[in-house]
Amino acid sequence: MRWLFLLILSIASVTSRSIIPEIHSANAVSDRLIELVTQGSFRGVTYNRLAALADTIGPRLCGNESLTNAVNWVKDVMSSEGLDNVHVEEVRIPHWVRGEERALLLQPRKTKLSMLGLGNSVGTGPQGIRAPVLVVRSFDELNARCAEARNKIVVFNPQCDWKTKPIACYGSVVGYRVGGASSAAKCGAVASLSRSAASRSIDSPHTGVMAYDLSYPKIPAGSLSVEHADMLDRFQQRNQSIEILLYMEAQTLPDVVGYNLVAEVRGSSKPNETVLVSGHLDSWDVGQGAMDDGGGAMISWTVLSLLHSLNVRAKRTVRCVLWSCEEFGGVGADQYFNAHTNEIPTMSIVMESDLGVFHPQGLQFQGRPQAQQIIQTISNQLASINATQVVSGGGGEDISPWMQRGVPGASLLNDNWDYFAYHHSNGDTMNVLNSTDVDLAAAVWAVYAFSIADLDDLLPR
Ligand SMILES: *[C@@H]1O[C@H](CO)[C@@H](O)[C@H](O)[C@H]1NC(C)=O
Ligand SMILES: *[C@@H]1O[C@H](CO)[C@@H](O)[C@H](O)[C@H]1NC(C)=O
Ligand SMILES: *[C@@H]1O[C@H](CO)[C@@H](O)[C@H](O)[C@H]1NC(C)=O
Ligand SMILES: *[C@@H]1O[C@H](CO)[C@@H](O)[C@H](O)[C@H]1NC(C)=O
Ligand SMILES: *[C@@H]1O[C@H](CO)[C@@H](O)[C@H](O)[C@H]1NC(C)=O
Ligand SMILES: [Zn+2]
Repeated sequence: MRWLFLLILSIASVTSRSIIPEIHSANAVSDRLIELVTQGSFRGVTYNRLAALADTIGPRLCGNESLTNAVNWVKDVMSSEGLDNVHVEEVRIPHWVRGEERALLLQPRKTKLSMLGLGNSVGTGPQGIRAPVLVVRSFDELNARCAEARNKIVVFNPQCDWKTKPIACYGSVVGYRVGGASSAAKCGAVASLSRSAASRSIDSPHTGVMAYDLSYPKIPAGSLSVEHADMLDRFQQRNQSIEILLYMEAQTLPDVVGYNLVAEVRGSSKPNETVLVSGHLDSWDVGQGAMDDGGGAMISWTVLSLLHSLNVRAKRTVRCVLWSCEEFGGVGADQYFNAHTNEIPTMSIVMESDLGVFHPQGLQFQGRPQAQQIIQTISNQLASINATQVVSGGGGEDISPWMQRGVPGASLLNDNWDYFAYHHSNGDTMNVLNSTDVDLAAAVWAVYAFSIADLDDLLPR
């Protein structure tokens, strides 16, 4: 399914392959990389590494010791493999804790609502907040009914056609999760609950980060399952009065030290020029953080493991960075960028996989047409696994600072139509992923990383 790009992206044009003669030598390496993960000794390795991480360490919330444990575990295995330059770089990261939480519907009937507090939210205090509810479907509706929101819990229930345009829907409704609380507080509301930014839900709420506008009081913010948001909406349509008791212990503790984890396969002739592959090691505290973004982190690590195992070095360095604290706004990646701005001129491409490692179809690429032609040529090396598509666009929260400075960027094009069913929920577990597809995703990632690192020149920008 290629729903992902129908609206905002266009298929890149196929172009001549004559511009990059050295592709032929990279070709042989690409075949070996693909063989190693599909039939060779690396078959299943990426999935098994991820399962070990997700099962044993579990979810890795920013600021939690589990994130540090994950960094240490991956670092130790990378070191024992003999990868180059394995090290961590310290960053300051926020430390939000969820604590106990619940939302009880008191009127029109007593039942427990499926809710999750949102990252950065304040708590309710020990008594909780008991208040009537106003349901709105948009910010416009809230503004029109602002006076009615006073002393109420505002429930945002934005509607969208997730089946046909999930990415666009996420983009349009995520604003209620992020900014709903302050908009409600502006009207005098005492708490805010938003419909999960999810394509579907089997009564499972989806969390995520929110942010306060400091001009208004900080009120507690949570998400509701799709089902419960719609039920509250129907109560209101029937003019039934709704009352909720919300209890949240959420709080933000002082910042802690976090770590971006770095490893490399150094370049043979231009080691100071770099191809960066990445994913984020942190996750939400629900589920296992398997899909978001354990998968992206693990395939990026596998790129190095494959090159090391084949004992090949590209001309340039291939560097893997596993980011810390993406979920609170690319926190670790921003600090990494600030510490490495001297590398902007020598960074050939920044790649991040953070939209699933489902069956891969190719690459999303953002760069100048000249660079896109080169990417298109490299894509031929993925013909044997039918992952030759190149579409414009792509990127990722953690690599965006580089891309804003003109460095070409890429992300994995994969069959992720169901991504937002699991994203940020208890459903983000190993069961979402398929070992064969994870292998293929790693192959796509490795072929591009090696081939770009082995070009005669940096990608044009
Ligand atoms: C880490 O998460 C666990 C599980 O939610 C929790 O019990 C523990 O207190 C957290 N640690 C910190 C430092 O936040
Ligand atoms: C709900 O109340 C409004 C305003 O009083 C009224 O216009 C509407 O018909 C009522 N809806 C139902 C289903 O009773
Ligand atoms: C490459 O980078 C290293 C460390 O950043 C630096 O010491 C060295 O001078 C650089 N070499 C070149 C040729 O720029
Ligand atoms: C190759 O992948 C495309 C999607 O990228 C798909 O439409 C097509 O059916 C696939 N072909 C085969 C032979 O699997
Ligand atoms: C996993 O993916 C492979 C290749 O895409 C497919 O052949 C296989 O049926 C899938 N396995 C499951 C359990 O869905
Ligand atoms: Zn992510």
